This record gives sequence, structure tokens and C-alpha cells, in this order.
Amino acid sequence: MRILILGGTVFLSAHTAREAVQRGHEVTCLARGVSGRVPEGATLVAADRSDGTRAYDGLDGDWDAVVDVSWQPGHVREALKVLAPRARHWTYVSSCSVYADHAVPGLGEEAVLLPHHSGAEAGPGDYGEAKVACEQLSVEAVGSRLHISRPGLIGGPGDGSDRFGYWPARFARSSEPAVVPDTPETLVQVIDVRDLAAWLIDAAEEGVTGPFNAVGRPTELRTVLGAAMEASGFEGTAVPAPADWLQAQGVRPWAGEESLPLWLPSGYEGFGSRSAAAALEQGLTLRPLEETVEAALAYERELGLDRPRKAGLSAARERELVSLLRAATRP
Ligand SMILES: NC(=O)c1ccc[n+]([C@@H]2O[C@H](COP(=O)([O-])OP(=O)(O)OC[C@H]3O[C@@H](n4cnc5c(N)ncnc54)[C@H](OP(=O)(O)O)[C@@H]3O)[C@@H](O)[C@H]2O)c1
Repeated sequence: MRILILGGTVFLSAHTAREAVQRGHEVTCLARGVSGRVPEGATLVAADRSDGTRAYDGLDGDWDAVVDVSWQPGHVREALKVLAPRARHWTYVSSCSVYADHAVPGLGEEAVLLPHHSGAEAGPGDYGEAKVACEQLSVEAVGSRLHISRPGLIGGPGDGSDRFGYWPARFARSSEPAVVPDTPETLVQVIDVRDLAAWLIDAAEEGVTGPFNAVGRPTELRTVLGAAMEASGFEGTAVPAPADWLQAQGVRPWAGEESLPLWLPSGYEGFGSRSAAAALEQGLTLRPLEETVEAALAYERELGLDRPRKAGLSAARERELVSLLRAATRP
């Protein structure tokens, strides 16, 4: 197949390009080429999608499959204008952030979406609404040929968000006491980037269409942290911190500097238990959690365990929190 990836220089889109090359497809990636390199065997067409429809001038011919990962409605609209008539199958990689409600557990693709973002450009605070707009533009242009993939948290090698990898990296970094959220039963879903890439190419090969949640198995936080401790050989103590105490200390949930990744405030009980039944029925295959943790840890070691992080607690802040927590709970 002739496959075009709009992206291909980082994480998911790069893994998707690699997967397609490994299966013997002819793979072209369109990106600026500033975030990384395309996988060996794929061809980069360097272009900036901010240049409107001209960005696609370097692409010749028809495509058996196109995969777009952008969240900028303007980029998605312009690409569709040029490429929709020339593509047999189209995948738009969206996100579970399109859903309006994250409190109800177990919802499938029928769940209510956010309103769409109405501008061509979106900022980080409009991410979910922008993804809804991109989905709608894709439905209008290639509806009957369209696979909408809605991933939840993606983990594994190449993850630049520093979220899932925080935990194995933290436990590998030192045996000092580690602050963990006191919510061991919270459900967490992580999909391995390699499983998601394989599913996107499977779906393109088989012409699968429709919206599909692409999420990992709902797994208790204690199991995920246990797997991270096991992989890293952590022999220290985990110090559980209550959610309201963490909030009072200014620790951010989920992501960002001085945060605790995978920890979510109340109102997000459904975030870790979305249904992947439709994708699993069509062939999505999920590897064991331990493999994702091992691969995330290996990648974290490559980057350096002591580096400043986009997400997670710094060693200094964690020490401070441990002392405060111990002082607060001392009889
Ligand atoms: N990470 C998660 O946990 C998570 C969860 C849910 C959904 N998602 C979705 O999954 C997808 C992840 O995609 P990804 O890992 O490949 O990361 P990404 O950061 O969305 O990738 C962006 C790609 O587009 C290219 N690009 C960005 N701006 C461009 C421009 N102006 N012109 C041309 N190309 C441009 C980048 O290459 P250059 O910078 O080299 O141009 C890169 O290859 C996204 O759709 C994301 O929203 C992620």
C-alpha cells in the first residue's frame, strides 16, 4: 500500500510509520522535520502545514491510506481539501479528550462529545474541542472511508509527555521514599504506542471505518505502580498521600511540572475505564502491562533519570513532601 502519514517524526506517528514500513508498505511522512527523524525506510516530505494547501504540493498521486494526527482544525481542513479525493482510507487520530464527561465509568464511542472549537487555530486549553472540530471536518470530507481513533493515555518508547514513564523512572532513580497517591483502586488505562500503531495499520489495511476508543485495559493504580516498582527493582518505601492533602500542597494531578502522573481528581472516575470493546472486536491487540512498563523504563534510562521533567515530582520537591507528610501524620 502507498501510505501517507501526516506527521511521522515523533512518538505515535513515527511508530505508525515504522510499523507500516516493517509490513512492506511504501511510506511517506509529511512533517517539518523539526521534532525528529522519520523511521528508516520512510520518505520525508518536508513541509509546514501552516502554509495552507501549498504544504501538500510535494505529494504526488493517490494514497491507499492517510493518517493524520494534528489537532489544529486549520491544518486538518487544508489537508482534507487537497488529499480527501486522493485517499482510499483515512485515519484521523483523535483523543478520548473529545468526550464531554469523564465521570461515568465504562462509556463507549456513543458518549456525548464536547462542542467543537470554531477557529482554525487552537491553544492547549481548547485541545478536546479542537479534536472534536478535526473529527467533524474529517467526517464531512471522508466520512464513509474514515477511521477515527480516540486514544486514551499512550505509553511506551518515545513518549515525550513524561507522564507514564515517570513512575518506572521514579522508582529506578532512587530508593528514597516515594510519594504515591493514596488512591490504589483508581482505574488507569494505558495503551502501548506499539499496539496502537499496529492497530492503526491493521485498520487501514482492512478498511475499518468508524469511531473507536483506543485504550488499554482498566487497571488499578496499585497494579501499575507495582509493575513499575518491579521493573525498576525499587526497594524503598511508598508513602501514600491523600488526594486533598496533595491538592493543598499544590501538587498537580495527571501532568505538568511537580505533578503526580496517573493521579486524577474526583470527577474523572470514567477516565480510566472507557470501553475498548469495539476496537478489540475488530482486532486491537493489547500486550501485557509489564512490557509497556519495561519499554518505558528503557526509554527513560536513555533520556536520563535525573533530567528535568515535563511531568512528575522533582527529587527535591518529593523529599519536602515526604517530610511534611510524615510530620502531619506523626502522633
Ligand atoms: N500522548 C498521548 O497520551 C495521547 C493521548 C490521546 C491522544 N493522543 C493523540 O495521539 C497523537 C499523537 O501523535 P504523535 O505522537 O505523532 O505526536 P504529535 O505531537 O501530535 O505529532 C505531531 C506530528 O506532526 C508534525 N507537525 C507538527 N506541526 C506541524 C506543522 N506545522 N507542519 C507539518 N507537520 C507538523 C510533527 O512533526 P514536525 O514537528 O517535525 O513538523 C509530528 O510529526 C496526536 O493526535 C495526539 O493528539 C495522544
